[in-house]
Parts: sequence; structure tokens; C-alpha cells
Amino acid sequence: MSDRSVVGGGRLTGEVRMPGDKSVSHRALIFGALAEGVSEASGLAPGADVRSTRGVLTALGVEFEDAPSGAVRVHGRGLGGLKAHAGELDAGNSGTTTRLMAGVLSGHPFQSTLSGDASLNSRPMERVAGPLRAMGAKIDLTKAGTAPMAIRGGNLQGFTYEMPVASAQVKSAILLAGLHAAGATSVIEKSPTRDHTERMLALFGAPPKRAPGRVEVKGGACLKAARVDVPGDPSSAAFWAVAAVASAGSELSVRGVLAGATRTGYLAVLQRMGADVRRAAAPSLSGEDCEDLIVRGGKLRGVEITAAEAPGLIDEVPILALAAAVADGESVFRGLDELRHKESDRLAGIAALLAAFGAKARVDGDDLIVAGGANLRGATVDSLDDHRLAMTGYVAGFLASGSTTVLKAACAQISYPSFYDDFDQRRTA
Ligand code: S3P
Repeated sequence: MSDRSVVGGGRLTGEVRMPGDKSVSHRALIFGALAEGVSEASGLAPGADVRSTRGVLTALGVEFEDAPSGAVRVHGRGLGGLKAHAGELDAGNSGTTTRLMAGVLSGHPFQSTLSGDASLNSRPMERVAGPLRAMGAKIDLTKAGTAPMAIRGGNLQGFTYEMPVASAQVKSAILLAGLHAAGATSVIEKSPTRDHTERMLALFGAPPKRAPGRVEVKGGACLKAARVDVPGDPSSAAFWAVAAVASAGSELSVRGVLAGATRTGYLAVLQRMGADVRRAAAPSLSGEDCEDLIVRGGKLRGVEITAAEAPGLIDEVPILALAAAVADGESVFRGLDELRHKESDRLAGIAALLAAFGAKARVDGDDLIVAGGANLRGATVDSLDDHRLAMTGYVAGFLASGSTTVLKAACAQISYPSFYDDFDQRRTA
């Protein structure tokens, strides 16, 4: 039974600790697999996406051990040391698995095929295939430019790539391929995207050369096994932060959240909306800054979010749009074309979800305009099998009057399997 119902009302109190960051978790497993020696990752994201990365790496000959503590030990095979796998490599719903592993497999002189579920196999892959081909990989996609992605790697040549889209997945794929290439590989980005790959390269003993808007790796660098303690996921924290700031009387502490500048755009936006969000530095983990948040319910005002800000909060747009719906005054989110290419067409999905609750939102070109001042009414909403829309629908149901059902709610297990239960536990009347 994958639907989930929620009756609106009440507030959030107490303390909650975030599950491990999904982006860092994928990279911890991939870098562990490429390193020399045995790495250990603790606090990995519990969702299906990171299991997909583990499954793909297992099929490619990487051994994992689950320690009683919950940590995972990764037996590295060294750069270029993965073993060919005859069948399709199943990346499930995970774009990060597919695109990062496309970079890794481009460095291996054998044939592999990455594929996934219907959502994954409809997402654009030419954005990684194009530059990886330019480095020397042979890559075939469907006519629509989607997976299944057949890759024959090997003999890569380093190059300089200026990214046309702001994408950390594309940047990471090229850097991972660059580790396996002859000479240096540079990526130039116009707007900063999440930099976990760069930080993890340093943690594994191969710091890249970094300058503003540019990162460079050298082929053949030796990665040394490392211990990765994964910080909490800010993209998960955003659901809690919005639920608390938008519900009168809430006071919630959200602990152990990754605080890097490329991931905290959502907090800057909430603060511009007048939300009571206090940030306190927490001990950093494995090269990533961390923080605790204290969030309290109060009044919100509309906000304008520029296109330049979009890459730094792209995964948080659904839940920020919900905050905008209950704020006083109009909000405008600019430059959201990338949202059309996520686990669903999230731009259309958000507008439809907000409309179902009686809020006014419309898409104008690549912009999302949310009217504000909505009195949300409980609704039946379809998650479109998109985890972030499902959790946004659940929080909307909490903020709405009456009863809400989120259809296909079980997809929250992609990033945050315990979300609904954790949420219900922190609710008081
Ligand atoms: C991710 C990068 C972003 C983000 C995704 C995770 C990553 O995607 O939306 O959830 O881990 O590199 P894009 O690179 O497509 O922007």
C-alpha cells in the first residue's frame, strides 16, 4: 500500500537528526571503489538511490562489508580496476548513479550498459555522453538521448570542458573520467554547483586544482582509502525547516546537517522570507562543514529567487514553493528549466500539487510564480513517483485543513525511508 494519508494541523517540536546526505554517500562508495585499500563509510544515506550505486559497483566486482556499527567497508579495486559485467547495470531511479558511473566506466576498457526504471530512462544523458565521447569513450544512447547507455571505455584523453548546463553530475562524471585519462582534465562552470566530488578527491589523497569556476584533475592520480563520515542531508532538512517555519508554535531542532555553501541556498531564501531559522556550526565531517538548525514557526513573506541561485537550491524548489504558497505576497522562482529533467517534470508537478491544495501557482517560461496567501485545503495528490514531490505533498497536508492523501507516497524511500514516521513522531496538537 503505497499511499499515505495525513490530517492537517498541529505543530512540530523536539529534535530530529537528518539521514546521511545522498550526494556525499554516492561519492563515498564510488571513491572507495576506485581507491587502493579498504575505505569505511558511516552514516550513509539509507535510501534506494545509494543502494543502486552499491548494486552497480557490486556487479563490477567491488566487495562491500556491513559492519555491526552500520558502517560499510568498501574494498577498493584501484583506478581502472573494475571488472566487466555482462548484463545491464541497474541504476534504479538514480541519475547520480548513472551519470557518475558513466564517467567511471568511460575509463575502463570494456563494454557496459547502464539502465534504470522508466523515470531514469527518460532523463537526458547526452549531457554526459557528449563530453565523455570527446574524451575518447564510445557511448550509445537511445534516439531520445536517454539510457540505456552503452559504454565502451578506455584510452581517454584529458581535455577542458565548459559546461552548458549547471550540473554537478556532469562535472563529476568528467572529473571521474579525467582520473582515468592521459594528461589533465578541466571543467569550467558558469554557476557554482555542489562540490562534493572536489572535496572527496582531497579526502582520498588527490586534491584537484581549484580556481573560481574551474576545477582540474590529473590522470592516473592514486586514490588512497579513506574514512568518510557522511553529514546529514540538507535536501531532507529542507522539508522539516519549511514545515516548522510555516506552522505557528513550532520549535524544532534539526541536527547534523551538511552546511556547505553549494547546498544551503534554501536557508538563505527562508531567511529572506522572514523565517526564524538559526544556524549553529557543528563539528565538520570528512571535509564538509556541518550545522544544527533551530527553526520556529512564524509569518513568511514572498521572495524573488534569481536564476543564478537556482543551482544551489534546485532539489529544494518543491518545498520552497510550498513555503511561498503560504507566505504573504507573490514569490517568483526564476530559471528552473533543469527542474523539468529530474525524477519527474518537477516544474509542472509542483504547480499541479499546489493547485490541488487550492494555492495559485503558474509556470511562465522557465519561471515559477506562486501567488502566496493560500489557505491550503486537504487534497488527494499524485507524487508522480517523485520522492521530493511526495514529501512536499505530505508537508502540505500537515499545513492544510482537513485530510490529504499522497498517492504513490512510498517513493520517499529513494532518499528518506523513515520521513513520514519521523514526521508524525514530532507532531503535537
Ligand atoms: C546531484 C546533483 C544535482 C541534484 C541531484 C544530485 C549530485 O543534479 O539535483 O539530486 O549528487 O551531483 P544535477 O547535476 O543534474 O544538477
